[in-house]
Amino acid sequence: MVLLAAAVCNKTGKAIISRQFVEMTRSRIEGLLAAFPKLMNTGKQHTFVETESVRYVYQPLEKLYMLLITTKASNILEDLETLRLFARVIPEYCRAMEESEIVDQAFPLIFAFDEIVALGYRESVNLAQIRTFTEMDSHEEKVFQAVRQTQEREAKEQMRKRAKELQQQKRENTKRGGPAYKGIGSSDFRSSSSVMETALPEPTKPAYTPPARPSGTGKAMKLGSKTKDVDMFVDQLKSEGQNVVSTSSGKPSAVSRAAVPEVNQESVNINVEEKINLTAGRDGGLQNMEVHGLVTLRVTDEKYGRIKIAVNNRDQRGIQVQTHPNVDKKRFASESCIALKNPDKSFPMKTDVGVLKWRFQTQDESCMPLSINCWPSETSSGCDVNIEYTLEQEDMELNDVVITIPLPHGQSPVVSDCDGEYNFDRAKTQLEWSIPVIDSGNKTGSMEFSIGGHPDDFFPVHVSFVSKKSFCDIELIDVQMVDDGTPVKFSSQVLFFVDNYEIV
Ligand SMILES: *[C@@H]1O[C@H](CO)[C@@H](O)[C@H](O)[C@H]1NC(C)=O
Ligand SMILES: *[C@@H]1O[C@H](CO)[C@@H](O)[C@H](O)[C@H]1NC(C)=O
Ligand SMILES: *[C@@H]1O[C@H](CO)[C@@H](O)[C@H](O)[C@H]1NC(C)=O
Repeated sequence: MVLLAAAVCNKTGKAIISRQFVEMTRSRIEGLLAAFPKLMNTGKQHTFVETESVRYVYQPLEKLYMLLITTKASNILEDLETLRLFARVIPEYCRAMEESEIVDQAFPLIFAFDEIVALGYRESVNLAQIRTFTEMDSHEEKVFQAVRQTQEREAKEQMRKRAKELQQQKRENTKRGGPAYKGIGSSDFRSSSSVMETALPEPTKPAYTPPARPSGTGKAMKLGSKTKDVDMFVDQLKSEGQNVVSTSSGKPSAVSRAAVPEVNQESVNINVEEKINLTAGRDGGLQNMEVHGLVTLRVTDEKYGRIKIAVNNRDQRGIQVQTHPNVDKKRFASESCIALKNPDKSFPMKTDVGVLKWRFQTQDESCMPLSINCWPSETSSGCDVNIEYTLEQEDMELNDVVITIPLPHGQSPVVSDCDGEYNFDRAKTQLEWSIPVIDSGNKTGSMEFSIGGHPDDFFPVHVSFVSKKSFCDIELIDVQMVDDGTPVKFSSQVLFFVDNYEIV
């Protein structure tokens, strides 16, 4: 099957949503859709019409049409089956078959369309799976949006505070008859303590970048034996005077997503991303810890479409592992290798395909990567705070660790002792303690400071870090051709990072 586009349009052929699976200009797809109602009047068939270059397969949805545009070489029976699945997805997301509902649900629908064609096997994807996969994505997106909103709010707040400070400074200087404005870094901007201050808000940087979708944009083109059809179609479009963008440049999708950096990537690239969400109590004890892992595969050379990936799973903790519905589950269980259910099929080209994911959830303290003991003691003038970290998993190496301690408003800490570096962010009233590396050779460290306030003021403590080593002991060790086991050169990246790590 070569599916060129899937669209919902009204009876006069106006596109409401359309997802193109090959490169196509907007005017081309709009032209194709607009031509469709006219053709329908002449055609005798009730389910499809054809032109010289394409075939339309359609199904009425009350006042609208669900429409697939395919090449003429595609198998019409398969296309009709695919069409039915597309049509069944719509009522899953829309209460009524109306233009406004479709527009409201445009993105969920497009993600669902993508899942249907993700690996080019419509037959093995059912509605429930589509839902699971799209919901997984939209959850990540929601988290990302929430984080961004918070950051924007914080940045605005800081700007406001800073403006106020400057105004006040100006007023004071005017009163004293000095210059109306003083540069940042003037002496009265520094406190007498040894604490470095962050005078200006730091540029906001996203703390969390959503991982690339298990299957990214432009995924739907199934290459392999049918590549010729696509080429022929593209040639035909060219001869018809359409400007056809080559696959590697333009973006066919309505949605652009975080791209995976392509430095030093082989034709077969494996990306392993793991994130941790942990909540621990201030008096010790783990309230909850969850680690989610996702392996995405990206193949950019058709030669290596039919491959298998050997997995070394040394997990002792009882991690739940799940393969993509199109991956051969039995083979994964028996041979610990990731291969497609249908060995004749190829992985999709030039797109990130989620092939394996895992989840680990525990309340067992001994599984924590890093424990934090933050101990405020009340004194006559406020609090002495002792804070200490300990690496609990000796085989781990954590990089760029930042431990953030909230502080009472209007107070500056006096730091008496610190392993690593610290920064007092006055605008955010927090102390940021940075340790470049924590590993078995440097398992613990501590910091001590005094400040006014109450012991409850120093929570929740937040921790962030990244690591090049996966937390769950699952390693992708080898890639081979399906047929003869010839080794295939591949590149891989592993990133373990913090989604949320707090001591409350
Ligand atoms: C389809 O949408 C276009 C543009 O909004 C509109 O002009 C046309 O009347 C619609 N057709 C039907 C049958 O509703
Ligand atoms: C972390 O897990 C808790 C449940 O333990 C959940 O409520 C929270 O939303 C999760 N946070 C993130 C950022 O996923
Ligand atoms: C351990 O980490 C601290 C903080 O980064 C650093 O000051 C110290 O030199 C490190 N010690 C070793 C043995 O690496």
